[in-house]
Amino acid sequence: MPRLSDDFLREIKYRNDLGELASSYMQLKRRGRNLVGLCPFHGEKTPSFNIYTENGSFYCFGCGAGGDIITFVMKIENLDYMEAVKFLAQRAGMSMPEDGYDDSMGKIRTRIYEANREAARFFYSKLTSPEGSEALSYLKGRGLADSTIRHFGLGFAPDERFALGNHLRSRGFTEAEMIAANLVFKSRSGNSVLDRFYNRVMFPIIDVRGNVIAFGGRIMTDQKPKYLNTSDTLVFNKSQNLFSLNNAKNSKSDSLILCEGYMDVISLNQAGFTNAVATLGTALTAEQASLMKRYCKEVIICYDADEAGQKATSRAIDILRRAGLTVKVIAIPDGKDPDEFIKKHGDKGHAAFQNVLDNSGNDMDYRLFKLKAMFDINTPQGKLDYLNEAVKLISELDNPMERDIYASRLSDDTDVAKPTITEQINRNMRRNNYKHRKDEAALLQKKISARDDRVNTQHAEKLRAATAEENLIAYLVNNPDKLTYIHERLTPDDFLTDFNRKLYTYFSERILNNLDPTTSISADFTMDEQSKVYYIINSYKDLPHTREAADEFIGIIKDERSKPTESQIRNSTKEEFTSFFSSLKDKKQ
Ligand code: UTP
Ligand code: MN
Repeated sequence: MPRLSDDFLREIKYRNDLGELASSYMQLKRRGRNLVGLCPFHGEKTPSFNIYTENGSFYCFGCGAGGDIITFVMKIENLDYMEAVKFLAQRAGMSMPEDGYDDSMGKIRTRIYEANREAARFFYSKLTSPEGSEALSYLKGRGLADSTIRHFGLGFAPDERFALGNHLRSRGFTEAEMIAANLVFKSRSGNSVLDRFYNRVMFPIIDVRGNVIAFGGRIMTDQKPKYLNTSDTLVFNKSQNLFSLNNAKNSKSDSLILCEGYMDVISLNQAGFTNAVATLGTALTAEQASLMKRYCKEVIICYDADEAGQKATSRAIDILRRAGLTVKVIAIPDGKDPDEFIKKHGDKGHAAFQNVLDNSGNDMDYRLFKLKAMFDINTPQGKLDYLNEAVKLISELDNPMERDIYASRLSDDTDVAKPTITEQINRNMRRNNYKHRKDEAALLQKKISARDDRVNTQHAEKLRAATAEENLIAYLVNNPDKLTYIHERLTPDDFLTDFNRKLYTYFSERILNNLDPTTSISADFTMDEQSKVYYIINSYKDLPHTREAADEFIGIIKDERSKPTESQIRNSTKEEFTSFFSSLKDKKQ
């Protein structure tokens, strides 16, 4: 197997997020800093599969599978190591290094950005030329100011099939580059290339680094498709980007407003809400949620009021919550979209929308509201069913104050006494807690039992030493700067179990060579071994990480090292025995 460079592996891991990837295969819930879910690698009813977001690894306490994102892909997609790396490289738009670093993909990507930027300039100049007068009045008719049009770089693709292609060619772009950017495509005869966008108002899509990565183009009549978008290219993946995030990331707000369409976002910006973003013609994805998470704490969903919009809202709540975001939901009066709403209020658009924002409920309000609509609460049975479901939802809230607020509200809403509701919530909580504790107990059991340690077969026999060794290794991996300190006190020979000695040597060497200790574990260890390695790194992480703790682990290892083994005791002579005991006494003084 050719060895991949650490830089390359680091890049792969940096550009692919394990939590994000895993949630496309399974349901994950946040628990503290970790994500937990039902293990995809063995059948189970209570979740014991953990993703550790700080170091991008996973471990299942049920079946003992563990590893990094590469291992995860190997197991879940049934690929070998290299195939899994390729899978992840492709997903992140990276090319595989072949014989040194192959940067041809990087070069193409740069050319696509350049072609897109030139295309955006071209469309803008057409909008402000006589050819674009109709398009310009269309945009103004929709209430956009010149400054807004300029700010978003809106444009016009002329009603011709070769306009952009010819322009880009004159600027030195090859057909292959234009095709790669999805700005033109080959005609059926194959003799020429045709513009993808013509006779449309153009919306450039710009990423957070300021690159033009794609376009949306709106037709100015009732024809279909209403919007035509750039297909996925080497620089654009519609499920990993959001329209106007480049603007929203600079807004002072802690929250983002998530809308359905380009025009909603633009109108909101014009009305002063620069923290608006939109998905790009697809349902919200987990990737987009974690992208938002980088820039805000709270997302306010502002989808259309129609049925499709409401369905999308429910879905989005789940996805956003799972990404660890607080969620609010806005209901716009009269079933309008934000763009229409703001336009209707003219000069007072800002105040009107601010008012809607101020009255937005959080997602629990929304869920309860939706739930209520599912039952006929005028019948006793319907009311009871509603209460049961509502109480279940409330019991899942972590915050006791929040639970109390919703208990009150539910009580007002159903005319059932609040203590009755609270009692039922508490009962539900106890049941949830009991289940939780049972899981934890099972987990602890697993931790203590070293008997089924297939990798470190000496673990059970040398329990005290092996545990201290694992502690120390976890300490070292999490505190690589303490290597010298530990080395001055402990050599690999001091380790009592072979596997842990191997780990100690491995991590020490990497740290000495200025390499990140964990980057290449999936390449250097077998599946079983890396499961054990990640168990060690992750399960000891919560122990105190002080130098005193390290001293204690070192002390235990030395102490265990100095004890004679059972066979030594059996074979030793009396003198040896006496001298051994006196050496112990010496130590104590
Ligand atoms: P809508 O149909 O709700 O359009 O689509 P809109 O944003 O209100 O558009 P206007 O106000 O009529 O101009 C919402 C979003 O879905 C995507 C676009 O991103 C659009 O902004 N979409 C819609 C497409 O990608 N293609 C389509 O044909 C329609
Ligand atoms: Mn609209």
